[in-house]
Amino acid sequence: MPSAAEVRARTGGHEVRRIVYPEAEIAGRVADMGREIAAAYPANEDLLILGTLKGSFIFVADLVRHIARPLHVDFIVAASYGTGTVSSGNVRLVYDPEAAIAGRHVLLVEDIIDSGKTIDRLVPLLRERGPRSLELCALLHKHVAPRLALEPRWVGFDAPEEFLVGYGLDHSENFRNLPFIASL
Ligand code: IMP
Ligand code: MG
Repeated sequence: MPSAAEVRARTGGHEVRRIVYPEAEIAGRVADMGREIAAAYPANEDLLILGTLKGSFIFVADLVRHIARPLHVDFIVAASYGTGTVSSGNVRLVYDPEAAIAGRHVLLVEDIIDSGKTIDRLVPLLRERGPRSLELCALLHKHVAPRLALEPRWVGFDAPEEFLVGYGLDHSENFRNLPFIASL
């Protein structure tokens, strides 16, 4: 566990309320998920890992190193939060991947599912492009969305209904570089 001083050095003096997922716990879970994902897809069929930026950048980087099979990586950028801690619900597509979707297995990788609005916006858009399969993997799932356009096949952790930061997750762009996940 990092000391309070180490945490403050990374956050610029901010205290975090509590560490919800320590670094080692995340690493173990991500490794398991990678193995499960590798086993789920036929080895000779194209797999595209499509991460949602920016929040999933660390998760994707760690996850793909545990998926021991050929794959491609791309990212899609949808923005909804602005600078606050509550989803605006207005999900804008900021970057659309270059990668071809048609005929390939596509695994959408989300950092966290909260209201589900991001997923509900992205899933129909990706389905329209004719992927061979479309599945969802989320590191964290708050289980507050009534129903999702696509239920995640892989979930890292069932997250508490708190605003979480670290391991890629931000508050106003801060805290993404924390190696653990904390409640603000
Ligand atoms: P949703 O559209 O409400 O499901 O939220 C999806 C996106 O909002 C995630 O990909 C995150 O980038 C962001 N988000 C949701 N909950 C949190 C949180 O607790 N901390 C940081 N970012 C969050
Ligand atoms: Mg965010």
